[in-house]
Amino acid sequence: MLTSTTKAIPETTLNPNHLAIIMDGNGRWAKKRLLPRAAGHQRGLETVRLVVKECAKYGVKYLTLFAFSTENWRRPKDEVSFLMSLFLEAMNREIQKLHKNGVKFLLIGDRSGFDTNLIKAIEDAENLTANNSGLVLSIAANYGGRWDILHAINEMLITQPKIDGNYTEDDLSPFLQTNQLPEPDLFIRTGGEQRISNFLLWQLAYTELYFTETLWPDFDESSLQDAFNFFKTRERRFGRTSEQLSGHNV
Ligand code: FPP
Repeated sequence: MLTSTTKAIPETTLNPNHLAIIMDGNGRWAKKRLLPRAAGHQRGLETVRLVVKECAKYGVKYLTLFAFSTENWRRPKDEVSFLMSLFLEAMNREIQKLHKNGVKFLLIGDRSGFDTNLIKAIEDAENLTANNSGLVLSIAANYGGRWDILHAINEMLITQPKIDGNYTEDDLSPFLQTNQLPEPDLFIRTGGEQRISNFLLWQLAYTELYFTETLWPDFDESSLQDAFNFFKTRERRFGRTSEQLSGHNV
């Protein structure tokens, strides 16, 4: 079981071990160029490719990308179906290459909301890459932080009923969607908004938060470097004092 940051202090690293990203700004990128929103998503997919490659290069072990939230179903129907077909197309086109590069693919979210051909492609990709030991790429799709927590509680109550009701974090964590991942070290949101938007609500407890105005399609190697440089300046105390960290007054 993976350690909780509220229960134990994780080892800290120079670059994040787990990076989680809200890829925002595709629509505005397209609008600025008088292009349809779909063109922004298409260009956003190029950034996904680049960031996967860069993360592998910089020793990031886990990368989690918010591709589609439980609230994104509220978008116009044609945009939703475009995003779904882009996702399916990208999986079919990229999965062999990801596999060759040792990437392990995971989908976090409620897959029951997807078409059967997408569910099949997701399962195939997960099975194909299950034993890979490189970067763990988790795509959050039809994912919501509240859904994740409630779903996990329901699963826990069904499979492990306790008369005294004395549940612990360790009881719950195996049922969270992220049960194969450590908690994120760094969160990035592009596109200028400063909110979590129902992403990994439970898991971001001690994550460093980085917000940038850069729109996702414009996010590049140097933008990622800026985020990593920000991360390096953070003193990660996990509830302790600064003096404790520097070895004084412990
Ligand atoms: C947010 O921009 C982006 C999304 C809701 C979709 C993210 C999808 C991709 C980056 C492409 C596909 C990715 C995968 C993993 C296949 P927005 O549309 O909210 O932009 P806006 O805020 O400027 O309108």
